[in-house]
Amino acid sequence: MENQKNRQRPQTMNSRRVYPSWLNQAVFYQVYPQSYYDANGDGIGDIPGIVQKLDYLQWLGINAVWINPCFVSPFQDAGYDVADYYRIAPRYGTNRDLFRLCREAHRRQIKICLDLVAGHTSLEHPWFKASCLPRRNRYSDRYIWTTSGTSDENVPLSFIRGYAPRNGNFVANCFYFQPALNYGFARPDADQPWQQAVDAPGPRAARQELMKIMEYWLSHGVDGFRVDMAFSLVKLDPGHRETIKLWQDIGQKIRSRYPDIALISEWGNPEESIAAGFDIDFVLHFGAGGFNDLMLNEHCFFRRHGGSNIQGFLKSYLAQAAATKSNGLISIPSANHDMKRLCADGRTAKDLKVIFTFLLTWPGVPFIYYGDEIGMRYLPGLASKEGGYARTGARTPMQWGDGLNADFSTATKDRLYLPLDSHRRRPTARKQVDDPRSLLNHVRKLITLRKRSPALQADGNLVPIPIDNNGHYFAYLRQSGDERFLILLNPSAEPCQFHIDNLRAGNIVTQINHGTRVDTQGNNINIKMAGVSYGVYNI
Ligand code: NOJ
Ligand code: CA
Repeated sequence: MENQKNRQRPQTMNSRRVYPSWLNQAVFYQVYPQSYYDANGDGIGDIPGIVQKLDYLQWLGINAVWINPCFVSPFQDAGYDVADYYRIAPRYGTNRDLFRLCREAHRRQIKICLDLVAGHTSLEHPWFKASCLPRRNRYSDRYIWTTSGTSDENVPLSFIRGYAPRNGNFVANCFYFQPALNYGFARPDADQPWQQAVDAPGPRAARQELMKIMEYWLSHGVDGFRVDMAFSLVKLDPGHRETIKLWQDIGQKIRSRYPDIALISEWGNPEESIAAGFDIDFVLHFGAGGFNDLMLNEHCFFRRHGGSNIQGFLKSYLAQAAATKSNGLISIPSANHDMKRLCADGRTAKDLKVIFTFLLTWPGVPFIYYGDEIGMRYLPGLASKEGGYARTGARTPMQWGDGLNADFSTATKDRLYLPLDSHRRRPTARKQVDDPRSLLNHVRKLITLRKRSPALQADGNLVPIPIDNNGHYFAYLRQSGDERFLILLNPSAEPCQFHIDNLRAGNIVTQINHGTRVDTQGNNINIKMAGVSYGVYNI
């Protein structure tokens, strides 16, 4: 274990805390375990399957992995409904398999982060079953129960009525089968005694148990957690003030024993989450930050036709970055298991190359969703699986090769977790490894460049270059010490031409480009970009 010295030095005097230095060079990869690689032929991906693919991840340059929940669960929400936090779901293997995954990953300089579903359990969790009983017991206050099964509560939470013999309704977080753990209320209403304070015995016990779960996995080699709905713990909490305090408390205690771990939040508001002590938060399809304006909307920036300029995204991103500077990092993921993949709505590998050039030269920590590196398609219209609904199309099996089931599994087709993309020319890792012009090799080159260039890493300076408001292109500098890069992106089908004045250019060295031309004239740079083009230059 590395010690406190290795945590990144803060740059501002009033920094509250620091993040582990390894995050500066980190390139994360998200594995949805049921769809990654099926090592035992039962049709469902598993942990031994991830172990077998570590060499691929290492080849790609990945140095950290986040695995979606892999614990015992009835899988009504793909594992975000945990029934035992201390045990790997048998369909994925055993705890020993997970420990081995950590060891094997560490041998390849890859960190392993698990998904911590902190806010709720499944209905099948023994704590919840005990809490449903009319007679008071150790778990009666582990969840949030009202004191009457027939009255209405006038607060904006979702109450599930009539589920249990206990005289009360319980609060659910997302789906009805995800009862919220009781971390207390920010300002309990004295007339509603079922609203407990954050330091009441029930909420204190829930917090203790959460730390115990974290310690258990950390003590077996896990390097951190992505925390599901981290913002949701304390109820009726304006500005998430009490939830922030709760995470500060947990982070401080856990880090006193494991200083080098990464805590990553699903929060979607870096200003709050980083104050709460998280090292990384995401720009997501909800919350602050403009992910949709960038990647998903019909008129988002990364569109060939009808795209908007970058200003909307930039404004919200820069505000978040300024508010969190040096205390934590912001991640723009390629996608995740809750949204459409990048390869949807007619995007091709060429478009994806522009997007990856952005993602892998941007500050913060890149997260690549499995399969995006080869341009796997979002498959619309699939029957919902395990509570996936529209998300199901982004969760199909990884396309490894040209063999049976794209070499994902040896099971018969009907036993596969989800159907494969049936397109005759579906992309596969096998084909793209051997093709120097493939998306996969483009991603690999960008990762290699990032890892050897401090200016391109998490904390390298970002200097956006002002462009006129109608411009549908984007140029920026990344800088660290003497090292400087110019990055050019034109996602639109229209060619463009512009110049950057007063930029001491010296020698310009092309690192990675397609369809861009750069000429210097004194301290000015003239740039010509074809439609759908990108360039990364040392200047
Ligand atoms: C966010 C997770 O990413 C999503 O998949 C899940 O359904 C909800 N949280 C509920 O846990
Ligand atoms: Ca399996």
